[in-house]
Amino acid sequence: MSEQRFFRFLQERIGLDVDSVGVPMVERALQQRCVAVDAVDLHDYWLRLQQSADEQQALIEAVIVPETWFFRYPESFTALVGLAQKRLAELAGERPLRLLSLPCSTGEEPYSLAMALLDAGMTPTSFHIDGIDISPNSVAKGVQAVYGRNSFRGSELAFRERHFHALDDGHALDERVREQVSLTVGNVLDPALGSRNGYYDFVFCRNLLIYFDVPTQQRVFEVLKCLTHENGVLFIGPAEGSLLARLGMRPLGIAQSFAYVRQPADAPPAPVPPRRSQPVPAVPVALNRPTPAPVTRPSRAAPVAAPAAAQGDSESALLATIARLANAGDSAQARASCQRYLQQFAPRAQVYYWLGLLSDTEGDARQALTHYRKALYLEPQHPEALLHLAMLLAAQGDEAGARRLQERALRAGRESER
Ligand SMILES: C[S@@+](CC[C@H](N)C(=O)[O-])C[C@H]1O[C@@H](n2cnc3c(N)ncnc32)[C@H](O)[C@@H]1O
Repeated sequence: MSEQRFFRFLQERIGLDVDSVGVPMVERALQQRCVAVDAVDLHDYWLRLQQSADEQQALIEAVIVPETWFFRYPESFTALVGLAQKRLAELAGERPLRLLSLPCSTGEEPYSLAMALLDAGMTPTSFHIDGIDISPNSVAKGVQAVYGRNSFRGSELAFRERHFHALDDGHALDERVREQVSLTVGNVLDPALGSRNGYYDFVFCRNLLIYFDVPTQQRVFEVLKCLTHENGVLFIGPAEGSLLARLGMRPLGIAQSFAYVRQPADAPPAPVPPRRSQPVPAVPVALNRPTPAPVTRPSRAAPVAAPAAAQGDSESALLATIARLANAGDSAQARASCQRYLQQFAPRAQVYYWLGLLSDTEGDARQALTHYRKALYLEPQHPEALLHLAMLLAAQGDEAGARRLQERALRAGRESER
């Protein structure tokens, strides 16, 4: 199909796995660009794309998902403050703390980091934050730092009073916060990033890996591990963790913060998530494992249905929809799709695991426990449910229970490897 070469171009240039955002979305972007440059058909557009770096960037802009907001996953910022204070004490004035937000989109994430550290009493000279994103438009908006309603979500908005001033068309971020952050255009697949080996004490890479296929995720995790100082911490998105265990990173065990450190050399190996022969990029890394009735990748001919039109969804399409919604942070729709799944199909561990993850992300530990336990009732060796439940128990002080579950996950991983 003539679209395949565009899909390949996007995969090679920015790592995008077209199934993760849905083929119709990319087709719309292609149509838009054809109209914008007056191309007669897709072949004509392909020729123009080859000849123009600007058009390549325009197509990339048309397919990226810049969705972000201030203090997304609030617990991770609380966790950061504690860890940053400790790290600063270790550094003993040798140099400022270095933080990276990659991808930073329109700046909400790196500016949230700055606000959290300033609010905790850190001096402006004690830390600096780099933000990198592939989209020049997003970076330009971030540099401008004027934000509308969508950037402020949830009820905890006291930070807006402290760090912004109101304008007619939004809220402008104060200079004091902006000075802490440098935003630049860059690609996480750029080999030049390798020169920053071990440079950052804290790396935030959230809601990027979900758009990549498994080999690209693996490649990017290597980059992230390399960017993170050996005593540093890597923060990822809620459903992006399983591959890290294979690369010798282990979760810090702080609930809902999704923070990972390098495994000490003498530590026991982390549980190895089972491999599957076919990657399923439309679903989170956590799902790349065999399930009783394998989830098939939504075919390009039958794209993932939108949640509103999902009444007659096939089982696999509904599962892929749940994954996409959950990863996009659309908890309400993801939860509704999970409920719809449970009404239409037999109960499945994976769906209860998602419900657990959604409750976990929203800070409802009690509900999360219930859902993870249901997942384990249906599938006692479900590795992610085991690991997430272990993290929850550890956060609640039940170290022995957490250890038992981790050992179970380790055994499950080994068995599946065999
Ligand atoms: C959903 S936003 C995530 C922003 C923020 N980290 C968060 O979690 O709220 C995804 C961002 O990834 C950026 N992006 C996509 N591919 C990229 C790549 N190869 N290198 C760097 N940034 C990329 C997009 O431009 C987009 O702004």
